[in-house]
Amino acid sequence: MPHWVPSSWSAFSAQQQPVYAEEAQLVRVLTQIRQSPPLVSVAAIEALRVAIAEAAAGERFLLQGGDCAERFQDCTVSEVRTKLGILSQLALVLNTVTKKPVLTIGRIAGQYAKPRSLDMEQQAGMLPIPSFRGDNVNRRSLSWKARQADPRRLWVGHQCAAITHEHLRALCTSPFYTSHEGLLLPYEEAVTYQVPAYGRYYNLGAHFLWIGDRTRQLTGAHVEFFRGIANPIGIKLGPSVSPTELAQLLDILNPHRQQGRITLITRLGAHNVPTLLPPLIHAVQDADHSVLWVCDPMHGNGFIAETGYKTRDFTTICADLDRTDAVHRACGSRLGGLHIEVTGNAVTECIGGPEGIRLCDVPNNYQTYCDPRLNAVQSLALVSQLTSLSL
Ligand code: PEP
Ligand code: CO
Repeated sequence: MPHWVPSSWSAFSAQQQPVYAEEAQLVRVLTQIRQSPPLVSVAAIEALRVAIAEAAAGERFLLQGGDCAERFQDCTVSEVRTKLGILSQLALVLNTVTKKPVLTIGRIAGQYAKPRSLDMEQQAGMLPIPSFRGDNVNRRSLSWKARQADPRRLWVGHQCAAITHEHLRALCTSPFYTSHEGLLLPYEEAVTYQVPAYGRYYNLGAHFLWIGDRTRQLTGAHVEFFRGIANPIGIKLGPSVSPTELAQLLDILNPHRQQGRITLITRLGAHNVPTLLPPLIHAVQDADHSVLWVCDPMHGNGFIAETGYKTRDFTTICADLDRTDAVHRACGSRLGGLHIEVTGNAVTECIGGPEGIRLCDVPNNYQTYCDPRLNAVQSLALVSQLTSLSL
């Protein structure tokens, strides 16, 4: 591998990074983070990579889920219990329908930063203000001041992540795997350590990290950062990824073709799946890479309702999952997991599902800080649907 250190990314162009007014304050916070204890163990990361390799071989099924954007205020025993509760229920159902051990990874304990399509947000009757980028970056209130990027929030986020890992350890008998999008590179660098016993660098802020669809540029800073960490990693693939680009990404991120290293999370949108997914599968097959294919049926299917609420339709989400599985089977590939935005709380963020949530019901309980999540009833109905799929 060409020379790599955790700061190598800084010589590349990085998308989606907040601009901090006070550089010195950022440096102080990062030093504090670097000096605090790691959040996860190398042994657990290594065990996860083995389990992902097994999922890629069809011996397990992956469930990755949680909030789109975690909130600092939810770093409480009761909220963590609720998050764990819905994921365990989903895993139980998935175990029954897939007849495979379910490997669960939470979008939890660090999912505090969001990429945004627009830098500015425009509310009726207001001057534009910078977009909300997650609790790790700024505050969600609608004011210019709230939306200024504050480096001290990284320290609070790191503490919330540590406390949430503690909660998880207290509530679970075996390691509960955590994940988030590896978006804020100064932070990710600060939690990356060289582990002499393994001779490699590990990001010890979470077991699994993924590269978002907006930051997977071949020559960008995120790909440069991810290539050097030994954790199992995910790559989100939206409709703009080309088969050639995908093969190049895999060569950069997994040059030694290590089993369990790469999880490809497709979020193409239900209408795109039949046309866009087959060439991607063929590119991976032709390049002789082994990956775990996971379907994210949420991110390609969002829309903004007339009321202004961002929502998703349960029927479209089901169709995305169904079509993704059908394409894998037709291409001699295998769907090995599901990635969803979900909450155990009875929210009304996505429409449809067994409760028949209508567009006019959406405002009734809309809590998300970013994208609309499936509620417990909707998510259980979605995973039950997998019975009809072959896997
Ligand atoms: C997400 O998972 O919340 C997200 C922003 O996804 P994507 O990068 O696929 O848009
Ligand atoms: Co999201």
